[in-house]
Amino acid sequence: MSNNIESHLVENRVFKPSKVFAKTAHISSLEEYQELYRKSVKSPERFWAQQAAETLVWRKKWKTVLAWNEPYAQWFAGGKLNASENCLDRHLTGARRNKAALIWEGEPGEKRTLTYQQLHREVCKFANVLKRHRIQKGDRVIIYMPMCPEAVIAMLACARIGAVHSVVFGGFSAEAIKDRINDSQARLVVTADGGYRRGGVIPLKRNVDEALKDNEQIEKVIVFRRAHNEISIKEGRDVWWHREMEYVKADCPAEELDAEHPLFILYTSGSTGKPKGILHTTAGYLLGTAATTKYVFDLREEDIYWCTADIGWITGHSYIVYGPLCNGATVLMYEGAPNWPEQDRFWRLIEEYGVTIFYTAPTAIRAFIRWGDEFPNRHDLSSLRVIGTVGEPINPEAWMWYYTVIGGSRCPIVDTWWQTETGMIMISPVPGATPLKPGTATLPFFGVDAAVVDDQGNEVPPNVGGKLVIRKPWPSMLRTIWGDKKRYRKQYWSEIKGMYFSGDGARRDKDGYFWIVGRIDDVLNVAGHRLGTSEIESALVSHPAVAEAAVVGRPDELKGQAVVAFVTLKQGEHPGPELGDRLRQHVAQAIGAIARPDDVRFAEGLPKTRSGKIMRRLLKEIAGGGQVIGDVTSLEDFNVLMRLRGETKEG
Ligand code: PRX
Repeated sequence: MSNNIESHLVENRVFKPSKVFAKTAHISSLEEYQELYRKSVKSPERFWAQQAAETLVWRKKWKTVLAWNEPYAQWFAGGKLNASENCLDRHLTGARRNKAALIWEGEPGEKRTLTYQQLHREVCKFANVLKRHRIQKGDRVIIYMPMCPEAVIAMLACARIGAVHSVVFGGFSAEAIKDRINDSQARLVVTADGGYRRGGVIPLKRNVDEALKDNEQIEKVIVFRRAHNEISIKEGRDVWWHREMEYVKADCPAEELDAEHPLFILYTSGSTGKPKGILHTTAGYLLGTAATTKYVFDLREEDIYWCTADIGWITGHSYIVYGPLCNGATVLMYEGAPNWPEQDRFWRLIEEYGVTIFYTAPTAIRAFIRWGDEFPNRHDLSSLRVIGTVGEPINPEAWMWYYTVIGGSRCPIVDTWWQTETGMIMISPVPGATPLKPGTATLPFFGVDAAVVDDQGNEVPPNVGGKLVIRKPWPSMLRTIWGDKKRYRKQYWSEIKGMYFSGDGARRDKDGYFWIVGRIDDVLNVAGHRLGTSEIESALVSHPAVAEAAVVGRPDELKGQAVVAFVTLKQGEHPGPELGDRLRQHVAQAIGAIARPDDVRFAEGLPKTRSGKIMRRLLKEIAGGGQVIGDVTSLEDFNVLMRLRGETKEG
């Protein structure tokens, strides 16, 4: 399979860290990074143990740093701690007590600031609300919220009492909520009436109501009043957040939890079947996110840190909540769209709050480029000192734009490679130390033994493509797929013996820099988010008119990949633009707008191998508008391909 991974990008520009930046940075030269890295991968356990002692607050020290029984890891077994205590209580004894923890702005423009003390109080109260509703250690709680402080409060309240949160992205549909409730066997949902997005209100509570039709398992729905849109309340089940908060005390000691106590489940797309519930546990996850926040963003006490991700994705979990708050940072949180009321909203926020660290995604950067320089140019962005990207490869021209127009040719860009499964940033520059090259995530973080290998697990020579693997366990790695150990082993630990397989292809250049080529399984990366083709296909096939569907990605200037669906219809159904629109809508309803196909193409048949497997590679070539140049000898019916090609010409 590694033969298919090709990479033709040649990039010669190098940007060395500036002396001014390096002087005060946590890691101030490449030599220092290399020395520390070398030591850290030689003995990861020693490195992480030292970090764990420095970074986290423990109720009881661990007995064993790592117990590794492939593919199961236990980090810091015997240790006891609490994630919410590490993010809150520890900051209350000194000057940080009155420091802003969260600075929030709603899309319509409201502003709120919560100091560490205030955030702590709210979290304690909400933890007591959860307890009042009989939520206990180990119970699962679904959080389906807009981007507002209460989403963070709900997460940390769960962590405080040892409940396991599962945040569902606010852009997902009722169907997606339903699946996640069923899979996690949650008992309680925390939501809001609605949230603002591009001037409109997203009816979150209505989606929850739909998801809970015929559901017996959810006992309580706690509703935060955000948008004041009309909602229906089901007596006995639904309660208001603000009313609940009136009945409880502000005193709630944090539970003492095992290092390996489950912290959260976050669902992500895989190449087959339903979304996977990625399970992260307490100490290792917290340590990984806290350490990377400190070193990768070169975080310091006075920073105003802004990560634009939604709390419903791993980036929001790790780099809005756990990593920054564990470090006592000031986090800016914004509710809405970047182009509301105008395309300069982000730059306006950076200027107004004096943001110093800004972390966003290539898909957003491409949108900014399209909107034009006039929007950032209207604002003073000189407070910025580090800027970052995550989610997909950033193409060098977009990198250059980000570097010059947003970073003023002054700010290092940290292009961070990682995944829902890895929990923390795995490959990234360390600003102040790593010379940057546009388009590469550069070098692995301390303690991360990343490599590019062939199918046998041998490292490939420089500039040869292969599979991106991690060869040693790391603290914030996923522990399993919720309820599916078999799939966990198969997906991540069977492709190459003894190594974690990321599903990505990559190459390393002569300096050892990692260039990520993209996914090598059937997973699309749309606007920085992973979507399983099979999920979209199942959604399509669930429509009564559809017989069969195959979904592939097509390169897209804005979103990275666009979703193209090839559909065959049942007898008596008629293809046409109107049905195409209905199918697109159907997918949006089933999964969420992010999965809505950009293009639905009707076909009389799909190209298959003799064993009946759909030949996606051919469809990809057709969808991309290119020639079918690959090998077609295993194609069962060549006529199908000819007809599909005819279709593309007309359409
Ligand atoms: O393909 C890689 C891509 O995003 C995938 C992980 O997706 P997800 O679990 O949704 O997490 C996204 C946020 C961490 C990876 O397998 N990816 C992520 N960051 C980068 C990237 N590809 C290239 N460069 C990156 N910096």
